[in-house]
Order: sequence, then structure tokens, then C-alpha cells
Amino acid sequence: MSAIIQSVLPKQISLWKRGVISLSAALLSTAAVAVEGMWQPWQMPALEKQVKQAGFELPIESISDLNKHPMTAVVSLGFCSASFVSPQGLIVTNHHCAYGAIQYNSTDKNNLIEKGFYAPTLKDELPGGPGLYVYVTEDIKDVSKPLLKAAEGLHGLARYDALEGVQKQLIKQCESDDATRCRVATFHGGLKYYLIKQRQIKDVRLVYAPADSIGKFGGDIDNWMWPRHTGDFSFLRAYVSPEGKSVEYSPDNVPYQPKTHLSVNPRGLQEGDFAMIIGYPGRTSRHRLAEEIENAVSWHYPMVIKHYNKAVQIIEGQTKNRPDAAVKYASYIASINNYTKNSQGMLDGFRDTAPITAKKQKEQEFRQWAQQHNKQQALASLDNLNQLLKESRQHRDRDFFLGMFQRGSMLSAANRLYRLADEKQKPDAEREPAYQERNWDRIRNSLVQIDRRYDPQVDQALAQYALEQYAALPKDEHVPAIDEWFGLKGDQRDPQRIAKTLKKMYAKTALGDKQQRLALMEATPEQLNDSRDPFIQLAKAMYPWRMKKEKHDKALSADIQEARTNYMAALLEYAKEKGEPVYADANSTLRVTFGTMQGYSPKDAVWYEPFTTLRGIIEKYTGKPPFDAPKKEIELILKRDFGPYYDEKLGSVPVNFLSDLDITGGNSGSPTLDAKARLVGLAFDGNYESINTDWIFNPKLARTIHVDIRYMLWIMDKVDNAERLLKEMQVN
Ligand code: ARG
Repeated sequence: MSAIIQSVLPKQISLWKRGVISLSAALLSTAAVAVEGMWQPWQMPALEKQVKQAGFELPIESISDLNKHPMTAVVSLGFCSASFVSPQGLIVTNHHCAYGAIQYNSTDKNNLIEKGFYAPTLKDELPGGPGLYVYVTEDIKDVSKPLLKAAEGLHGLARYDALEGVQKQLIKQCESDDATRCRVATFHGGLKYYLIKQRQIKDVRLVYAPADSIGKFGGDIDNWMWPRHTGDFSFLRAYVSPEGKSVEYSPDNVPYQPKTHLSVNPRGLQEGDFAMIIGYPGRTSRHRLAEEIENAVSWHYPMVIKHYNKAVQIIEGQTKNRPDAAVKYASYIASINNYTKNSQGMLDGFRDTAPITAKKQKEQEFRQWAQQHNKQQALASLDNLNQLLKESRQHRDRDFFLGMFQRGSMLSAANRLYRLADEKQKPDAEREPAYQERNWDRIRNSLVQIDRRYDPQVDQALAQYALEQYAALPKDEHVPAIDEWFGLKGDQRDPQRIAKTLKKMYAKTALGDKQQRLALMEATPEQLNDSRDPFIQLAKAMYPWRMKKEKHDKALSADIQEARTNYMAALLEYAKEKGEPVYADANSTLRVTFGTMQGYSPKDAVWYEPFTTLRGIIEKYTGKPPFDAPKKEIELILKRDFGPYYDEKLGSVPVNFLSDLDITGGNSGSPTLDAKARLVGLAFDGNYESINTDWIFNPKLARTIHVDIRYMLWIMDKVDNAERLLKEMQVN
């Protein structure tokens, strides 16, 4: 709830901790620095004083106006953030954000994940794979009024449909041409809506990625950890047609010319310096109820840890000695591992339950305030919300396992094709949004991608696992259509029956073939109903249940939205009275966060310095993944060949650094900017102790982990000889 937090300036902390000054002197000379907050650009002018005090040197308009630099240089990849770094559409982002594109271009025999990739000329740059798009935000407009008006007095499904209807209209008006992509983003649980207009660029190529032993150094062991030594950066390039139109990959396409691009500050930051991140944080839950945290901690995270770790074991077992299949699942495994370690971090973080207790206390204070101010509607909504949340969890185990089952490549393709054929019978405007014509390229891309991300043996084993978990649930949690298909009786795992059916299905299906999948995008419902493909048949059998569930879930979500909206309206009023600026929870829209480069104390008696250096790579190096490194890199470090990237104070080249900036997943790849908005690094992770700050921010523990620009440049210059790119960024 609170947004501006008093914090001790880091330089003084470190002086104090080194015994140079006393604690009271350190505290006395402090200034207020904003730490918590993922701000919408329009909020920046109100924060001008704090931003300036923190050290920002450019006019505030530069970070509130979308048409000004550096805002024009920051882009979204949909799941990660990135930025333009040359007039020729060169884009820098994280290695783990480009990982899908690297994996897509890799085979067992030509494994770019392992080797890394560098295109010596424009012509050598590789298509990033279907669905890798770049989004440049061009306009953000408050559209709360028409949406709230449409929903007035409506509940359940009627409310859901009314809100969706207006959103569809707004999007349609907004999308004037093929290059324009619009969406309506929900803020504060439905109290505010913004129409976001983006330019989408559909030909995005892989330009340069260091070897895995640099880009993912430390692997999943070091993931979410400090001290860190990961070169988590890669380069992409946006292409358009020679006429400047946004089109899918074509060899004739030419580099896109962005409005502006970031310039590089090759000297980087020093401890205590101002730092800022502009990017697209995915999701936080800071305005959620304490009760929602408790559900996540007692049920959701343990489920994820248990069953997704199992999924990783299954994939590893099934791909052992089959390197080609292993490459296909590299990207999936990385994301599961990231997710399960995040879940474990949540649990470890909440071992101390004090923050949850404090949050409950705050909710109590809000209730009292609401009583005093006669906010009966808000109070009733709060009670209602609790009730609705309980309802939404009624079938949580079943939903979890069937979700896992339906995420399999074959079944998800079949479900999607079956739904598409059905939706096509309606006029476009009445279709479920994901099946409207504007999204057919997304459907096609997902069907194409299966080619390089699917292995029947693995898919089958994962389906088997999810189904066995489902089968063992109590009888009344079962779905008759699924039970009939697999011959399940409920209350028992039935591994043999499941295995027998799945085996036949995978042997017979034609959906493993790309051409077949794509051809079925044109199929009519009759043709699919007559299809003898077992996955299409299963999709057909499950369809009535899926549709019924979807309707029920939509109605429930609309009621939750209604209750949350009423609650949030009062909560914001309450915060305003207390004089706290409030930022909305992250929702994959453009945000600004600012603060300071500094270290932290992760636990009793331990202080973490804010920089790591090349020295640490030698310390961690074992010669085996995940602590392998290119031979050349090790030689250069041992020779102390640091070039101009050397930092005198550190006595080496900085590799990663920490700041107190407030980010979350989705911010990955965001440019780290200095006081003049020059590029000094990339955000790529949070520290382990910050994981649960997605729920409750803690300024003492929340740190962002960045890769230092000097390490990026050193690798490009000395290890990978990426001269063409250094020149393009005007570094050399
Ligand atoms: N923790 C990073 C994030 O969520 C992802 C890092 C990916 N690396 C890995 N070893 N799996 O943004």
C-alpha cells in the first residue's frame, strides 16, 4: 500500500558499515529516496521531486511522455522487455529472453545454445522463430469511463460480456492497420482501464547471443542468487518490409528505424549512483488480500514445486541419450526451473510470517476507517470477495492437473483447432477474443512452433503423469467425458488404463505433422467431428465440459472483478487521505522505477557488496556446466586483459550489480539507465530474498540484479569479437 519509503542513502550505509562514520551520522544525513513503486508514465510528474532528489538529470517529461526519448527506445517482447540501441533497429535484451529464439534455431548437430551465435553481417542474422514480435508502445489512453458505464448494475456473465464487448470495440477502433496492435489493460482489479496502442514488428531476428556458458553461467543453481556472474544479454534486430510495413519474415525485409535509441555509457555506474528501469513488469499482487497470500503459500506454491519438479524429472528421463529431443525441451525446462525456484523462494521468504500479520493488521485498519466513513459498499464487497475467492478454489486440484494435461502439445493443438472451427461460425466481432481474425497469426505461430518444441515420447509421459494425478482425485472431482475416454473409475491412479489409451493416441495422431495441423485451421466443425484423429476426438468429447466451465469461470471472474473494484475504490481513497501515492499492480504495461545502485544484508551478520567482478568467474569455474566458461574468457581473465572496461576501485571488470529498484518477471531485459538515461546495464533477475516481495515489498531486501554494460562490452570486444555491433552502438 505505501509507496514512498524512507531509506538510507547507500553511500552512507557503506561508509557506516565500513566504520568510517557512525550510524547516527549516516541516518542524520539521509534524504528520502523512492524505492517501492512501478509507476505508470503519467504518474511521473507528481513524483518529480523524488526522481530529481534521487539524481535524475533529464526533464521529467522525458519519462512521462511516450513520444520523448528514452520512452521511444524501450520496447516489449510480450514476455520480456528490451530496448533499441542503434538507428538500425538493433535491440538488446537478456539471453534468457532470447533463449526461445536461440533454441528454435538449434539442433543437436548445430547447437547454438551451447556455442552461442554471432552474425558477422546483416545477411547472417537468423529469423527468431514464429511469434517473436516486438511491441513499441505509442499511446496510452484512459478508457475507464465507457467500461465502468457498460458494467454498471450488471453481475456475473452479463457483466463479463458487457466489459468484453466494449473492449472489443475499443480495440477495433484502435487497430487502424496491420502494424497496430491494441489492448485494454485492467488496473486496480478493474477500477481503471487503459487502451494501449502499440506498433508490432513481426520480423525479429537473432543477431548475437554469447555461449550458454556466459549467458547462463551458474545456470539454475545461481538463478535468483547473489553473488552472480551471468552474462545474461543478447541482441536481436527488428525488420520491416522495404516500404516500412510490418510483415512476417521475408529475405527482402530491411532493418526497422526506431524513433530513437539508447546511447551507451561505457563507464557504467558506481555504488550509490542513481539508477532507473523502464520496462514491462508482468504481475505483482501487492494489493491482494492477506488471505490470498495464505492460499498461495499453503497450496499453490507447494503444488507447483512438487508437480513441476516432477515434470522436469520426466523430461530429463525421457530425453536422456536423445540429444535432439533434449534441445527441443531446453527452453521449457529453463522456464519450469525458474518457476519452481521462484515458488520455493516464496515459501522461504514467508517462513517469517510477520509481513503477513502486518498486512492483516493494515486490512483491519482499513476496515475501521471504512466503518468510520460509512463505506458500507466497500465493506460488503470485501466480505463478498473473500467468499468468491473461496468459491474459485473449489476444484483447485482438478483444475491444476487438468491444466497440466491440457498444456501438452497434442491436446492443446487439438483443443485450439476444435474451438477455432466452432468460433468461425460466428461473425468475427462475436467470437472469443483469442479466436478473432486478428489473432489467427498467433494461433498459426503456436501450431508451427510445436515442430521444434515437441517430442511424442515426452508429451506422452507428461500427459500420463498429469492424468494419474487427476485420476486419483475423489470421484466427485471427476469429469465424465475424460473418465469415459480413458476408462477411469475415480479414486485410483489407473496407470495401465491411462497408458494403454495414450499409447494408441500418440501412435495414431497426425497432429505431430505441421502441414496437417495447419491444414486443420481451415476445417469446418463437421469435418472435425468426423475426424478420426484421437486428439481431435478427445477435444470433441471434452468440449461441452470445457465450454460450461469457461462460462462459469467468466461469471465468477466478473463478480470478483466487481467486488475488487468496490474495495479498491475505497482503498485508494484511504491511501489518498494518508497522502500516499499509489501505483497499480504490475500488468505487463509500461512502468518506470527508480532508485539507487547498492548492496544489502541478506541475513544476520552478512553484507552483500553490490558488484561482482571477473574474479568471481575464476572462483566459480569448474569446467563443467553450469560453471563452465569459454576457454578464451578464462585466459583473458588470467592474463588480466581488461581493456578500457577495467574499474580501478574494483581492480577488475564488473560483471553484475545490484540496485534497490522495484521490478518483477517481465522486466527481464529492461535497460538499466543512468541519470542521463544512458544504457549502463540490463535488469535480468531479482535476488532470492526479493521473490516474495511480489506480494509485500520490503525495501531492505528487494534488489534487482543487473548485468553491467562493461561486462557486456568486454565479452563482445574481447571474447566474441562482435566489432560490427560495437561500431553500430558507437562504442568503438
Ligand atoms: N530468474 C530470471 C527471471 O525470472 C530468469 C532466469 C533464467 N535463468 C535460468 N537459469 N533459468 O527473470
